[in-house]
Amino acid sequence: MSQVILVSSGKGGTGKTMFSVNMGAMLASKGAKVMLIDLDMGLRNMDLYLGMENRVVYNIMDVMSGICRIKKAMIKVDGFDNLYFMAASPRRDDRDITPLHMEILCDKLSKIFDFIIIDCPAGVSDLFDVAIAPADKAVIVTEPEVASLRDADVTERYLMDKGLDDIRIVINKVRVDLMRSHMVPSLADISDMLQGTLVGIIQDDDNIHISTNKGIPIVCKKGTYIEKNFKEIVYRIIVD
Ligand SMILES: Nc1ncnc2c1ncn2[C@@H]1O[C@H](COP(=O)(O)OP(=O)(O)OP(=O)(O)O)[C@@H](O)[C@H]1O
Ligand SMILES: [Mg+2]
Repeated sequence: MSQVILVSSGKGGTGKTMFSVNMGAMLASKGAKVMLIDLDMGLRNMDLYLGMENRVVYNIMDVMSGICRIKKAMIKVDGFDNLYFMAASPRRDDRDITPLHMEILCDKLSKIFDFIIIDCPAGVSDLFDVAIAPADKAVIVTEPEVASLRDADVTERYLMDKGLDDIRIVINKVRVDLMRSHMVPSLADISDMLQGTLVGIIQDDDNIHISTNKGIPIVCKKGTYIEKNFKEIVYRIIVD
């Protein structure tokens, strides 16, 4: 059986898509079969961060509306044997997809893939309900700043109300200097605010920003502290 992992935030721009593609790349590089699903209709970025923007022909809405079969919308990522993604629709109003649609899609994909990673739009919306339906666990990616944390808290409560209570927290874009000098909330403050299990922190690093712009997941660069960090975080997410 596959694991369906939802990647969410609350506030926009916290690093959900960066995290999704790197978690997918990390798992695939270890031999797992991984499907990444971009659900951010109209504001899709996953294709860019994977360097695959010129390969998208069909997207998830084409599957949902019966324009193509699932396999046609499964795009194999260059450089990986086992990493695939499904693009979001480029149109923001293309959201005629129900939680049941998503459950059926993931049920079919779970016969092929070990992990299905769903990159959500920011915030709590109708598409968020769609993403929650098939999920086994959720990752909330937050920045260590008050607005992002408040929105992460709202998102976490929403997930728990919907019955999804296996929640892992990733703190992204951490600036150690600011945290050490108590200019931003500390790890202890963050742990007090959120109920999910803290599985890792990722530093604010220009190399991560550059990698998304180049369309090459940062974990492809072997032997770096970032790769090692991701390996540990991903492990803490996939274990029960
Ligand atoms: N740890 C990091 N260090 C430096 N830059 C980062 C880091 N994580 C993400 N970024 C940058 O932050 C920006 C937003 O990242 P990303 O698109 O993954 O966020 P998102 O949560 O998916 O956004 P949205 O809510 O719009 O979907 C990108 O420019 C990315 O390169
Ligand atoms: Mg995104």
